[in-house]
Amino acid sequence: MFPWNDRKGRLAPLKLIVFASLFLPGLWVAFQWWQGDLAPKPVTEALHQTGAWTVRLLLLSLAITPVRSIAHWPRLVDVRRMVGLGALAYVLIHLGLYVVDQKYDLWRVVSEIALRFYLTIGFLALLGLVALGVTSTDAMVARLGAQRWNRLHSVVYLLAVLSLFHAFLQARLDVSEPVLMTGLFVALMGYRFMHARQWRGPLALAGLAVFAGLATALIEAAWYGVKTGVDVSRVLAANLAVDVAIRPSLWVFAIVLALVPLRFLGRARAPAGRAAPVRPASAR
Ligand code: HEM
Repeated sequence: MFPWNDRKGRLAPLKLIVFASLFLPGLWVAFQWWQGDLAPKPVTEALHQTGAWTVRLLLLSLAITPVRSIAHWPRLVDVRRMVGLGALAYVLIHLGLYVVDQKYDLWRVVSEIALRFYLTIGFLALLGLVALGVTSTDAMVARLGAQRWNRLHSVVYLLAVLSLFHAFLQARLDVSEPVLMTGLFVALMGYRFMHARQWRGPLALAGLAVFAGLATALIEAAWYGVKTGVDVSRVLAANLAVDVAIRPSLWVFAIVLALVPLRFLGRARAPAGRAAPVRPASAR
């Protein structure tokens, strides 16, 4: 049974595409390294890129159930575990690169993890992802029972928070990527909140886009305000200077707003009179 097979052992094109795509970021990093584009510190640069991809894949795995429900695309759930395991693979490479960065001095790696807060946080997130990876098999779902398994796997939201915290803490001056990822995470949590209250229409999603965009702008302003003491209103104003750069808040707004047409598409795809099927107890 290959990762791209469905439960009946047949080739599932969606699984194959996603499986192959998961290798692309790693191949891209390897290619840049080979080309010398990561110089002068290839290990550090690769460490950064693999860390960033871990967070992106983690959030992508969390976005699968909402998108599945919004677009009425039940099969999307087939690739959720694969994307989550992809995040785990990237973080293991990330840790491996850190070991290389520390010249294979494992004692130093351990003591740095214990002494540096941002590394402790990252390591806790990694341990959590390993635990979820190990328990992600069908056999484990059967052994734990669906309810306990769901409860255990909802820890993934806490792991996402730890991951974002780790990314923020290690960032020097530019926190655009962690801010963008945090904004998307806020949108995901907002969606869960709305979903539980049956707010699932296009208007609710448009409202979520505005809310998540504003929250992202505020998080960014607060971070720069606290870290650098810069005038918060100037950071907020930068969101409007689209001719200079598109700030994370606008990206978050646009990405969440893209769910509105997806919702219409989902309604068109859903059998008449039926809403998109959703898991009863959770929005995951
Ligand atoms: C789930 C767990 C983890 C996630 C999601 C994660 C994610 C990230 C992210 C997003 C970055 C910043 C990338 C960028 O700025 O472009 C980063 C940087 C980094 N991470 Fe992690 N990480 C995790 C665990 C770890 C662990 C276990 C270690 C090592 C023990 C580690 C060591 C580092 C280091 C050294 C940096 C770069 C810091 C610097 O340049 O000074 N991370 N990580």
